[in-house]
Parts: sequence; C-alpha cells; structure tokens
Amino acid sequence: MLLIGKKNIASPFILAPLAGYSDLPFRLLCREYGAALVVSEMISCHGLMYDQQKTIRMLASNPSEHPVSFQLFGADPESMAKATAVLNNYSPDFIDINMGCPARKVTKKGAGSALMKDIKLAEKILLAVISQSNVPVTVKTRAGIDKKNTTAIDFAKMSENCGAAAITIHGRTWSQGFRGTADWGIVSEVKKSVTIPVIGNGDVTSHLQGLLRMEESGCDGIMIGRAALGNPWVFQPEGRPGNMRNILPAVIRHLELMENYLDTDRQLAYIRNHTGRYFSTFTGSSQIRKTIYACPDFHELKSFISSLTT
Ligand SMILES: Cc1cc2nc3c(=O)[nH]c(=O)nc-3n(C[C@H](O)[C@H](O)[C@H](O)COP(=O)(O)O)c2cc1C
Repeated sequence: MLLIGKKNIASPFILAPLAGYSDLPFRLLCREYGAALVVSEMISCHGLMYDQQKTIRMLASNPSEHPVSFQLFGADPESMAKATAVLNNYSPDFIDINMGCPARKVTKKGAGSALMKDIKLAEKILLAVISQSNVPVTVKTRAGIDKKNTTAIDFAKMSENCGAAAITIHGRTWSQGFRGTADWGIVSEVKKSVTIPVIGNGDVTSHLQGLLRMEESGCDGIMIGRAALGNPWVFQPEGRPGNMRNILPAVIRHLELMENYLDTDRQLAYIRNHTGRYFSTFTGSSQIRKTIYACPDFHELKSFISSLTT
C-alpha cells in the first residue's frame, strides 16, 4: 500500500504519464489490470487557460478510473495557478507537475526538464499550484541535468519543503533523453533525503522487477511507462500470458474502451499503434501487425481481432 497525502493507494504500482498513450481508455484498462494509480498525459497550462478544445479533451475521465492524477506542464507560475483552478473542476485525486520532460517543444519554453536548471522557478510553480489545488500536488522529475549536475535530491527537498505530497524520480538525466539506463542509485539517495513518498521510475519491465527495485532502493512506489504498452499485465505478479488465447481478452477490452471513449474514425492510426503492440512476441505476430495496420476502419480492425479468437 502507498499513502500519498491522505489517500491510500491499494498497491505501489502506478501507470506513468505517457503523452500520446495514457488517455482515458488506456488508463481504465491499466486500472482493470492492476495499476493502483494512473497518471494522465501531460496537459498544457496554456491549453487549459485558453480553453483549447484539444487540451480540454484530455481531461476526459470516468469514476471507475480513480484514483487518477492529472499532470500539468508549464513554466509560468501564474498560468500554472490558473490552470490548476480549471483542473479542480475535473476532480482528479492528485495534480502532478512535469519537471522532467526532455521534449524540445516543452523545454524551449522553460518547462519540463528545463526547470531542473532553475530550482527557484520550479519552487514558485510548485507553490502556485499548491495554493490553488483542492487535492495533493506531486512532482515528477529526473535524476538531473546530466551526469555532473544531479538535481533530484535538491528537487526532492524543495518539493517536500513546499508541501508536495510525493515525488517521482525517473533515474535518467535530461541529457540522456531515453538513452542508456535509469540510475536507481539516485532513487535510493532521494529516498534517504526526504520523508514524503518517493516513487521510482525507469526501465521496470515486470511486477517482480518493480518489487526488487523497491526493496533495493527503499522507494515507496513504482511507476511503469513503456513496459505497460501492449502489456497491462505488467501490473500483475503473473505477468503477460504466454499464449495468444489469453492475450486477446485484453486487446478486445482495450478496443471496447477506445470505442466507448474515443472518436474511433479520427484516431485510427493511434488505435492501430496501441493494438499492434499486443502482438510482439508470438510466431506469426508480424503478419498480424501488418493486417492491423492495413485495416481501413475501426470496425474491420475489431472484426479482425475477434476472428483471432476462433
Ligand atoms: C511516449 C512517451 C511519452 C511520455 N510522456 C510523458 C509525459 O507526458 N509526462 C511525463 O512526465 N513523462 C512522460 N514520459 C516519461 C515516462 O513517464 C517515464 O518517466 C519514462 O518513460 C521512464 O519510464 P519507463 O522506463 O517505465 O518507460 C513519456 C515517455 C514516453 C516513452
């Protein structure tokens, strides 16, 4: 069990924010398969402030996905405070602040990883969000700017002092992007330096590995991102089923959730991408993926997947 603020999270396993992937259908699926908390894709504070429809669509939620955290990104404390006031209306259980995204379109405006270069600004942002938020606020950051400039410990202490309810550390640096491996030593160091819950993140590919990482680092929670794609069983001790017959119910459920919550005609490329990911480890899987990518519409895709069950 994990306690964040006053909220009990049933297990330490959390679905990471994944831009382009961790939308409502995928979050619901991961909750059904054992993720105890799910985090939205990063949401632009400006998009919220200016009521941009693309951003507002990202706030789609459903009672059965709770607890859910909505993640905000931005670099201006005042805008972040205003965006928080908007987020309150959508009743998340937590608001997370992105202080680790290395994407150029985010960092060039001073947000995400770029905040690691300006801890004072990061502090102002955190205080501004906390001042407006109806729910506990958490921070997600990286090990540091590069190998020589580790910022995670300073960020964790600053976050704790400001009143953040938890901190997530992805054990890569900004300069690493997604290359190399995550350094879990930094997760242990952060854990030793604060009393708020520390959530470790980076390269966890199974439930068992998550438990081992917790034991080694002493961290309180495990966040899993890429390994959950096409594999919601990563949140379960038994892991991914070894045969196609047991994989298909998850694919069919995911398609059903996408049908319920997405505009399936417009999002076909996205749906094919999610669906194709379930079929990476079986003989004949490349032919299945080819067929998925060739499906002209959602209904044909759905009937193709159903045909695999027979
Ligand atoms: C496609 C993709 C999108 C991501 N989007 C976000 C995001 O919106 N916010 C964020 O804080 N991190 C984002 N991340 C980083 C992940 O949350 C996570 O920190 C990183 O992938 C390491 O964890 P993993 O090895 O379990 O994937 C993203 C990563 C990927 C691969």
